[in-house]
Amino acid sequence: MRRHKPIAHFLGLRQRQRTASRSDAVRFHLHEVPSIATRLRPNAPEALAQPRELEQIVSDRETTILGIETSCDETAAAVVARSPKGQGTIRADIVYSQLDLHAAYGGVVPEIAARSHVSVLDRLVKKALVEADIELSALDGIAATAGPGLVGGLMVGLMTGKALALVTGKPLYAINHLEGHALTARLTDGLNFPYLLLLVSGGHTQIVLVRGVGDYRRWGTTIDDALGEAFDKTAKLLDLPYPGGPAVERAATSGDPGRFPLPVPLKGTAEPNFSFSGLKTAVRQAAEAAAPLSDQDVSDLCAAFQRAVCRSLADRMQIALRRFRSQYPECTQPALVIAGGVAANTALRTTLDACASGAGFRLVAPPIALCTDNAAMIAWAAAERLAIGLPADSLDIAPRARWPLDENAAVALGHGKRGAKV
Ligand code: KG4
Ligand code: ZN
Repeated sequence: MRRHKPIAHFLGLRQRQRTASRSDAVRFHLHEVPSIATRLRPNAPEALAQPRELEQIVSDRETTILGIETSCDETAAAVVARSPKGQGTIRADIVYSQLDLHAAYGGVVPEIAARSHVSVLDRLVKKALVEADIELSALDGIAATAGPGLVGGLMVGLMTGKALALVTGKPLYAINHLEGHALTARLTDGLNFPYLLLLVSGGHTQIVLVRGVGDYRRWGTTIDDALGEAFDKTAKLLDLPYPGGPAVERAATSGDPGRFPLPVPLKGTAEPNFSFSGLKTAVRQAAEAAAPLSDQDVSDLCAAFQRAVCRSLADRMQIALRRFRSQYPECTQPALVIAGGVAANTALRTTLDACASGAGFRLVAPPIALCTDNAAMIAWAAAERLAIGLPADSLDIAPRARWPLDENAAVALGHGKRGAKV
């Protein structure tokens, strides 16, 4: 099977960026007097009131954060610095993809994921510190993803973050993974608030209004499957390899998107939500009717699926872009940011680019390595929180398998279902 994300050479670790000088010795100093960070960040939304005013409280020196990410099937550690003017520098960014461990099962197996995080995370952290050429004692904080995600993996990363915070006396930042995605465009492109975010990954499909650090409004979400999940399930039913997204995209390049008519989910509905489970069922029915499937049939089905997805995204995004325009008429250079693994899809990018420019928006697409799961975004989110004076977290904070970015957003219910998974 072709690998989407190649496993790296160093102990299976993939290095994405080399900006710092190397050192043979691993400096891992854990000898400072422990002190427990006691400032608590309540998760209640009122605790984050008025972040736009808070944004004025910019720290007057560079801050450097170690980030840890273990919410799904990537183990990652990174060191990121933020200048007083808000410029970010990635000093180390290391990701170990577990893709090969899960491929045989056609999806992520939580127990395998958690065990793999345990076995590689400490080495990743050491390696990130060496690459960044920084000692633990010189950091301004330790950031770890606390949710949403697979709880076993979250526990591994958060416990590691807590242990490092405890022994170094550095503040702990328990970061919402979605906030990491939401703020990445400020690290890569120095974007100003407000902007629109479309997050499309294996676990999430959301349109988020990003108003400030800690200030998010979820405008749209999926009422059933996430988009990446729909790609993966479609690939599975067409007997294509895991992960399905790249396989479907590859097959679609030689397909006729007009041969199999498929529905465009939720087209014309008022709220910019998404639905993909009906589309997946339509693909299955078309595949069953055309069975046995030739390679060309598979390509045509993939092309039809991808076109229906693109049409749905264009239709849904237009609502959100219009809403943004009417809420922020003074915003002269509005931006639409895309993030998540599905943002690697070329057809989808082309569609969103046309959609954004047609509405007078700039499409901002961070490099793929920073669109998919990574720890640089977790470190950066903590640096952004620290810069506006938001408090660090207590060492007894618990991981949250479900943790919406916008706690006030209504639950999106699918037809006859228990509700959205995300
Ligand atoms: O953000 P990500 O790397 O991981 C998590 O969801 O945590 O996203 C992975 C998802 C998978 O569902 C994968 O099939 C999808 O992104 N994906 C793609 C493409 N590359 C990855 N979907 C469509 N087209 C692609 N080229
Ligand atoms: Zn993610």
